[in-house]
Amino acid sequence: MSGFDFSKRDSFGSRMGVIMAAAGSAVGLGNIWRFPYILGENGGGAFLIIYLVIVFAIGIPVMMSELLIGRRSQRNPVGAFRALAPGKPWYLVGMMGIVAAFMILAFYTAVAGWTLEYIYQTLIGGFVGKSSGELTVMFDSFRSESLRPALWFSVFMLATSAIVWGGVRKGIEKSTKIMMPLLFVILILMCIKALTLPGAGKGVEFLFRPDFSKITGNTVLMALGQAFFSLSIGMGTLITYGSYIPKDNKLGSTAVQVSMIDLLVAVLAGVAIFPAVFAFGISPSSGESLTFIVLPGIFQQMTGGMIFAFSFFFLLAIAALTSTISVLEVIVAYFSEQLNMKRRTAIILATGSMFILGISASLSWGMMSNVKLFRLNIFDLFNFTTANILLPLGGLLIVAFLGWFLPGRDSKDELSNAGTLRLRYYSLYRFAVRYLAPLAIALVFLNGLGLLKF
Ligand code: TRP
Repeated sequence: MSGFDFSKRDSFGSRMGVIMAAAGSAVGLGNIWRFPYILGENGGGAFLIIYLVIVFAIGIPVMMSELLIGRRSQRNPVGAFRALAPGKPWYLVGMMGIVAAFMILAFYTAVAGWTLEYIYQTLIGGFVGKSSGELTVMFDSFRSESLRPALWFSVFMLATSAIVWGGVRKGIEKSTKIMMPLLFVILILMCIKALTLPGAGKGVEFLFRPDFSKITGNTVLMALGQAFFSLSIGMGTLITYGSYIPKDNKLGSTAVQVSMIDLLVAVLAGVAIFPAVFAFGISPSSGESLTFIVLPGIFQQMTGGMIFAFSFFFLLAIAALTSTISVLEVIVAYFSEQLNMKRRTAIILATGSMFILGISASLSWGMMSNVKLFRLNIFDLFNFTTANILLPLGGLLIVAFLGWFLPGRDSKDELSNAGTLRLRYYSLYRFAVRYLAPLAIALVFLNGLGLLKF
């Protein structure tokens, strides 16, 4: 069907490169912008414990399954299901992933663009002397402008395309091997600074001491959605990356390591943020404005705050960039392999269509604020539909495919590289993909949609 020459596929060159690229996809705005505010709104330490359980019981098995599907088939998400289940409708799971990729890239790159505006503001001293009321006005008026959010979106989108243009090994792998360690260093320095603030202990306590009275059914749903989003699972990003992973790589260890890095960065982001939030007497549950309104307010009251502010938004921008490239790569791999385009044509077409979608999303509080569906603006619609519907549904279908459709010996063969690698914990994995993960996702999902109430 496709005239693409599959023998010429690019691949990752080293074990380290695989980890950095996949961890780069996972670690992003989800860890540093979304995780702290979701945790803050959902009871702190108690949320952290539920989140941990979900990452181990559901996140890691789904991640392994995606990598396995990709590496077994050596294809993009649509091609992967077509190759492993010829003539069956499973390829629709891949199509759903492509649709989700467009939607995620649109709103996610819009937020990534905001980080550029905030880097710019720290450089020109835009926060200095502003009260929290003024910072709120500043954020709201920036978002409702008609040019700047679209401009920053475009800059970020072009940076993303430039890396993908370089290819899997020379673009994605090479850049993430530089950006991820840099991100780690900045984050550690920020944690040290935060922990030395007077009153830091309260923030640490909020993060690590569980108050189980705060847990509700909704907490579990929020934790599941957060885990899917943060681990980049449920839409085929890791099917695509998995297809570039060499056959002798242990997918189980890779999934565990990537998930642990992702978890660590989320916790460290909490350690960098909550001590400051408490030291300055702010409520930890101030929601999604935590990053863009509360933190600038805190930074400017701190000694050396502007350096801290610059580092923080720079950190966010790099974290976002290593994620946006992974989402764009999904679309590019699909266009080039399934629609038989040259890679560069695919990149130009994908970037061009993203300009239309992403600029619309970035103007959701400005020119596009009247465009609404189910009372949500374009940005919120994309954000909500992907995290709460498409990703969990995609994840459910992926584990169902692996646990119940693909013959068990194929999974085993792929994970062990035709018997040359030793498989530990295989029966645990098998149990998770057949029973634990599908059941847990289905329950939480139905509950979240209000179709089932506990
Ligand atoms: N995981 C990234 C983050 O936390 C975002 C991301 C990249 C993503 N690829 C994805 C989310 C695929 C869902 C699906 O910022």
